[in-house]
Amino acid sequence: MKSNKIASIALLLWVATIAVFAWFFIRGNTTAGTDGRTAVVLQPAERDLILAEMRGLLSSTQGILEGANQGDVKRIIQSSRAAGMAAAADVNPVLMAKLPLEFKSLGMSVHHDMDEIAKAAEGGTPAAEILKMTANTLTKCVACHSAWQLKAGN
Ligand code: HEC
Repeated sequence: MKSNKIASIALLLWVATIAVFAWFFIRGNTTAGTDGRTAVVLQPAERDLILAEMRGLLSSTQGILEGANQGDVKRIIQSSRAAGMAAAADVNPVLMAKLPLEFKSLGMSVHHDMDEIAKAAEGGTPAAEILKMTANTLTKCVACHSAWQLKAGN
């Protein structure tokens, strides 16, 4: 009887722990933002890392557009590859845990799109189609920016 009770308590604690982890995994380290968006709270260095990645995304986008305009397929491939999944692979798990699930999946989806653009360019896809793919990807940049802010904290 007594060991049954201990087992029940252990089970409850285990369920509670899993629930807390699941909650963090989905919600990340967030708080209300200053302008109606949700702020993801990061260490200053982590915020700098994400913002540097963002500037990389912008310059990749610029490279794709310029490549498409000038018929420079190599430029398109190099620019999109630079923002592909490989670029996201080195983000450390502590930082990943602070990012909300929706944020992570939107971010990964953009990196995935960039690889798809590189593949399409390699396969000789016409510039018009490359531009369409890029425009679709840009809607994800806009969606994420309208929902989230980055705040330096703990
Ligand atoms: C998963 C969410 C997400 C996606 C997807 C995303 N961004 Fe961002 N980006 C952010 C957040 C959050 C900020 C910081 C905004 C703030 O704090 O006001 C940011 C900031 C930026 C900045 C400013 C960088 C700086 O140094 O201040 C640029 C440029 C940028 N993003 C470009 C892009 C481009 C281009 C894309 C798409 C190809 C993109 N982002 C996709 C979340 C995202």
